[in-house]
Amino acid sequence: MEWIICLLFFASASIAAEATVISANTRLLNNILSYVDEGEDACSNYFQHACGKYAARHIDDPFTEITQMLDHKVNQDLLQVMDELERDSQTPGFNESTFEAKALRFYLTCRDAPTSTRSASHYLRLVPPSEGLTWPQFNPRGTVWPKDQFKWIDTLAHLHRYGLRNVLINVLIMPSLNNSEQIVVDLSMPQFEGQSQHLNGYIETLATLRIMGVATRASLAIALKIRRLESAIIALTEDDEETDPQLMNVGQLERRTGYEWRRFIETVVGHPVSHDIRLQVMNLQYFTALKHLMVSTDAEVLVNYIMTRFVLHLLEDTMDSGEPIQCIMDLRRNMNLASIRLYKDRFIQPETLQQKTLEVQQIFNRLTRQFLLQIERNRLGLTAKQRRMVARKVQAISLNIGNLPKGLDHRSFISRFYEDLEISTGELDYGREHLKLLGFRTRKEIAQLGQPAPSEGEYFYMADPNTAMSSSPMYMMRQNAIIVPHGILQEPFFVANSHEVFKYSLLGFVLAHELMHAVDGTGILIDSHGNQFEPGAEILSSPRFEEGLECLNRNKTQYLDERIADISGLSLAYATYFENFNTSSRTGFTNKSQEQLFFLNLAQFFCGDGDASNFVGHDDDEMRLQQLLTGFRPFDRAYGCRRDRPQPEKCQLW
Ligand SMILES: *[C@@H]1O[C@H](CO)[C@@H](O)[C@H](O)[C@H]1NC(C)=O
Ligand SMILES: *[C@@H]1O[C@H](CO)[C@@H](O)[C@H](O)[C@H]1NC(C)=O
Ligand SMILES: *[C@@H]1O[C@H](CO)[C@@H](O)[C@H](O)[C@H]1NC(C)=O
Ligand SMILES: *[C@@H]1O[C@H](CO)[C@@H](O)[C@H](O)[C@H]1NC(C)=O
Ligand SMILES: *[C@@H]1O[C@H](CO)[C@@H](O)[C@H](O)[C@H]1NC(C)=O
Ligand SMILES: [Zn+2]
Repeated sequence: MEWIICLLFFASASIAAEATVISANTRLLNNILSYVDEGEDACSNYFQHACGKYAARHIDDPFTEITQMLDHKVNQDLLQVMDELERDSQTPGFNESTFEAKALRFYLTCRDAPTSTRSASHYLRLVPPSEGLTWPQFNPRGTVWPKDQFKWIDTLAHLHRYGLRNVLINVLIMPSLNNSEQIVVDLSMPQFEGQSQHLNGYIETLATLRIMGVATRASLAIALKIRRLESAIIALTEDDEETDPQLMNVGQLERRTGYEWRRFIETVVGHPVSHDIRLQVMNLQYFTALKHLMVSTDAEVLVNYIMTRFVLHLLEDTMDSGEPIQCIMDLRRNMNLASIRLYKDRFIQPETLQQKTLEVQQIFNRLTRQFLLQIERNRLGLTAKQRRMVARKVQAISLNIGNLPKGLDHRSFISRFYEDLEISTGELDYGREHLKLLGFRTRKEIAQLGQPAPSEGEYFYMADPNTAMSSSPMYMMRQNAIIVPHGILQEPFFVANSHEVFKYSLLGFVLAHELMHAVDGTGILIDSHGNQFEPGAEILSSPRFEEGLECLNRNKTQYLDERIADISGLSLAYATYFENFNTSSRTGFTNKSQEQLFFLNLAQFFCGDGDASNFVGHDDDEMRLQQLLTGFRPFDRAYGCRRDRPQPEKCQLW
């Protein structure tokens, strides 16, 4: 009888499975339809048509678009983990030295520490400009701040330990450009474009000086002077047009520029280094000019400038709030690997993960195969060798689901990773612990120097604070890898076993977008091992590639690589789905055509009700969607759109 019971069991299990699939499809469909504004014409304004009801549906929600919604779910889940851990921690036998316990202590510090321990002046008292020297505003009354003891370059090196990098000198730890196996110190001039890469306006600068404890009277003049200093530095960077880094040893660099670079590097890395340590250096002209500027700048102006940038860096690195959900975000930023693992352990069943991994990998393999066909068709007129190189790179792209090292035993790996991190149990002090974690992150980065680059199985991305909180997939150029955070593999973004049209139009599109970054205007210059390569430069300057870029930039964008990834990614995801599946029939759960479902689901990736600050590094979402669909013939066919004016030819790259 046993086999009959078994059979019966399986039969009913598969009926149940089918029922959940059907209901998942219906749920996904209903979710899509709930955003659609049927009153808006699909042909003339698809963004309004597909997203018209987004704002009304999410009026009180603390997020402004779909990926933020997924991040928010992750945050809420982690909050539950912390509550559970907090309860456990009150039971006897709770192990205080696990990474879970450390994460909990950091979270509790964030939540419960006195506000005074978050203040800028508190941080500055904990981190002086150098040993034995205070910041000028803390100098004892009636004494003169000892200018001659201040060495700006020592202070910079010292503050680098807390992650300050892009001030006066940009110091990065990264794979050498010609050899991604070798991790080197990279020196270049600072950048000023990013939000946190420069001083704010005069009034904001005054406010920053005030929170650092600078007296009001003094701050007016200081704000002016440090802003003037920054302008002078920006001018120096604009004079330097060098673009190719060179490898040289520290002695050579000292002779070329007259700085004590060896001492600087030793302070940065925290141990002695040899004379022939190799550095990757750019902008020698800038460094020489900077030296002159520094000599002629008053030490007190300089120290105030560095101090202000340091505090802006600290502010950028914290949510600056004791609200539980904000503290979860802080935890994700500061202990990223631990957060990933805590979330995975508690909320992702191994079987579910296995199923999702399988499906995601399958989607990705189909996309890759489709793209290889495209390369074979050779629209760009590449040589056989160039095609081979590109194909090899695309075939070598690896997926890392979850951003954990794939090949290592995670639990013990993560325990070891956090082994030397101490989070105090005593009096709660947010600033102190935050600085400790900044120091910890920098040490991890520096520890890579002189080590072989991690293999695919060991690799994970040590995220910067902002990406650490994000569930968006990312292409890592030097590793030729796509990271897919767990957070993105949730409903409504992705449901295992749901209808393929949902998968290809959303996750498929996003993976195709990331894949195209491997061959966009920047990625194409790098080979499958993460090194610069000649055929890439040839392709970039080939006539049809240039023509494609020009076409894509007809409506000018600052983010051309993103547009390439969007437009080429859509063609790829669309072709992959409609050329690999039988899509002639209706789906069984809706009368909408599969084409319309595809475009609706795709379009809703771009829905949102945030302001312009949502769109870091990309054009705004409405613009992106418009660029995607304008002139895309399958879209017009899907909706029977008739255009009175002929549409411009769709731009194509690959
Ligand atoms: C507590 O955790 C640490 C780190 O994971 C481990 O090495 C140690 O064996 C644990 N102690 C006990 C009593 O389980
Ligand atoms: C990289 O290789 C090129 C060509 O071989 C060489 O000219 C360049 O100096 C190298 N750059 C670095 C940073 O090693
Ligand atoms: C893009 O360029 C076309 C043709 O130059 C123009 O008609 C259209 O309005 C532009 N679109 C945007 C969003 O700027
Ligand atoms: C696609 O599915 C439809 C309906 O199920 C069927 O009639 C048709 O033969 C299928 N086409 C192919 C190419 O399999
Ligand atoms: C599809 O259309 C048919 C005929 O108009 C209707 O009977 C049916 O209920 C519709 N199905 C769905 C799922 O909307
Ligand atoms: Zn992108």
